[in-house]
Amino acid sequence: MKAEELISLDLKHVWHPCSQMKDYQTLPPIAVEKASGSFLYTKDGKAVIDAISSWWCKGIGHAHPRIKKAVTAQMEKFEHVIMANTCNETLAELSRRLSELCPSLDKVFYADNGSTSVEIAMKMSLQYHAQTGNPDKKDFASLVNGYHGESILALAAGDCGLYSEPFEKQLPHSLKLGPFEHISGMKSEGWKKFPEEQWRDIERHLNLDASYLAAIIFEPVLQGAGAMKIYSPELLKKLRKWATENNVHLIADEIMTGFGRTGKMLACEHAAIVPDFLLLSKCLTAGWGPMSAVLCTDKIYNAFYADYDTGKSFLHSNTFAGYALAAAAALETLKIYEEENIIDNIEKRSSGLLKRMQYVADETKALANVRGVGFMAAADIVNPASGAPYCAGLRKGFEFFRNAMDMGAFLRPIGDTVYFLPPFNTDENILDDLAEITVRALRKTTLK
Ligand SMILES: Cc1ncc(COP(=O)(O)O)c(C=O)c1O
Repeated sequence: MKAEELISLDLKHVWHPCSQMKDYQTLPPIAVEKASGSFLYTKDGKAVIDAISSWWCKGIGHAHPRIKKAVTAQMEKFEHVIMANTCNETLAELSRRLSELCPSLDKVFYADNGSTSVEIAMKMSLQYHAQTGNPDKKDFASLVNGYHGESILALAAGDCGLYSEPFEKQLPHSLKLGPFEHISGMKSEGWKKFPEEQWRDIERHLNLDASYLAAIIFEPVLQGAGAMKIYSPELLKKLRKWATENNVHLIADEIMTGFGRTGKMLACEHAAIVPDFLLLSKCLTAGWGPMSAVLCTDKIYNAFYADYDTGKSFLHSNTFAGYALAAAAALETLKIYEEENIIDNIEKRSSGLLKRMQYVADETKALANVRGVGFMAAADIVNPASGAPYCAGLRKGFEFFRNAMDMGAFLRPIGDTVYFLPPFNTDENILDDLAEITVRALRKTTLK
């Protein structure tokens, strides 16, 4: 099928996610024929840098040969079996390795996407409190500007109005903590110190709701969909202390930060805290299959462990929980991380990525608030003459995206926030090309 034919077939039938379909009239989808390493290859022979790791999940790039081999070997045995009342070596070994990431989080519950893992942790927390004599604990708190997915509970916990507004009337209440200071990265003054008056305000709100709160959910250190905003790990230390004192769970949503994006295997390591629930997805399988994992403490697990007729079982299920092909990919991913020192390399290379974003800002004067942590660098499009941001309705980010795509980089922005979030093993020369394309795409964008 030729590219044009494919695109017209697609647009006749496919409703794409997170999109205004009318936009596809001016920006048709790219017809992907193949993907390898840091590139998508189109049907008409173009190589496009996947600068956002296909929605942040291709941590070690497309078509990694070791993962292909592991998935193929698993396929030879079986691709999927019901997870209730069966066990298999791949999943048991994966679970052992995952629980080693954070030794006090010893139990692993599986689902097949990030939002569902958010729902699972929230449901587990509610049921835990009900079963341990605190049925009034049924509220959730989360951070201002957070994002936790698109299902109803996850949307309620999030704070990105763009996604939640149409459903506002149906969403359960969730206490929003903040606003609070966002910073430019680990070298910023604010990394080591969270503003005391902002904490006092957060603490006051938490105290008011303490006896009704089940859990606090947050993206540690880096708020992704909320336009790549970074905050001090000190806030997490304060939340950990407060939550322990008030019998409130901490749910660390590491769906995008987990597996190295912030320069540590888990972003919680920046704060040296252990949450009660840890959520992983995206890079868990190196983007090879839908899988998410909810890790929790023995204390939580034990509150559900009882005779069946006590009604304490956690009866959540998803057909594809523990999907074996994804589990094989995840297990191999963990081995690759260990054997290839992926995390050490991210730490070494992260300043280079940030420097490239700064270079784009200096060259074009069209970017402000350059920021970055780990292997993520971001900045906001501004008017080069005045340095002021544009009104969102002008959609400068969208225009930039279209230009960058034409020039060979898939740089889908968040509003007017441009960001680099490439696979960790992207070559330096590809990163140089990415920076040059970004400069050219911004220069071509009408920024007056
Ligand atoms: C922090 C965070 N939580 C939850 C989700 C939802 O995951 P999924 O898209 O797999 O439902 C995302 C997705 O981007 C995310 O970044």
